Amino acid sequence: MPKATEIFEKVPDFDYSENATSTNPEEFEKVVRSRRSTRIYTDEPIPEEIMRRCLELTLLAPNSSNLQPWEFHWVRDRDKKTELIRLCLGQPAAATAQELIVCVARLDTWNRNRKMMIEAMERSDREVPASALAYYRRLAPLAYNQGPFSIFGPFKKLVFWALALRKPMPRGPAGKADMRVWAHKSTALGCENLMLSLRAFGYDSCPMEGMDSTRVRKLLKLPRAAEICMVISAGKRAPQGIYGEQIRFDPSLFLFEV
Ligand SMILES: Cc1cc2nc3c(=O)[nH]c(=O)nc-3n(C[C@H](O)[C@H](O)[C@H](O)COP(=O)(O)O)c2cc1C
Repeated sequence: MPKATEIFEKVPDFDYSENATSTNPEEFEKVVRSRRSTRIYTDEPIPEEIMRRCLELTLLAPNSSNLQPWEFHWVRDRDKKTELIRLCLGQPAAATAQELIVCVARLDTWNRNRKMMIEAMERSDREVPASALAYYRRLAPLAYNQGPFSIFGPFKKLVFWALALRKPMPRGPAGKADMRVWAHKSTALGCENLMLSLRAFGYDSCPMEGMDSTRVRKLLKLPRAAEICMVISAGKRAPQGIYGEQIRFDPSLFLFEV
């Protein structure tokens, strides 16, 4: 039986290959450069099929351990949408939007999804690396289970610290705060996929954290372990829908070659 950590230590035996599809960098750059946070939209609806494709692409974002700790709630009910606009403080980016998507980080679905990963591997026609199965069966529960009320957190921190005295060691997630960061990281990557997908289809978006996240959670009847990462509005940008030029500071402040 492989060690639970073997997947990190050596390349497993596997029988799979996937060609890197050729892509069009100019078109991609156009999508990235033309995405702007849009505060005013026109009345033009987004076809349902396009929304569905963008949401499907959202779920292709990379995510931690492939445990997909996210949910994207496309709010279609008229009354809920009206209330959501109010909870987004009535911002024009929400009020004029054709569509609103509540992006949720789930701190509590990792174990269900871990089991689904194991089932998917067991169902596979291919030989699945034993070390991958060992990771999901034995290491993932240790890594992500924080115990009732996250009481394992401080203990885990101590264990990680002690193990790291001798060799490089992941330092978490240890406790609820780490789990929150963990889930929000992956969810935010899904959010970016959604916004770039909308742009690629000719639509625009605005990410919003200017909202009452507690009330939004209640509106969607979500449990406490479901945290609102952001609300994304979408539609066709109005001629004056962007408030100003895109400002970015000197790249030397942010980009480093070490
Ligand atoms: C997490 C997050 C929260 C944001 N919240 C809001 C918001 O509540 N309202 C808003 O109008 N814009 C919001 N924005 C948009 C930013 O203001 C915008 O991304 C930034 O000014 C850069 O402009 P650009 O997106 O057009 O490049 C948010 C962006 C992010 C990533």
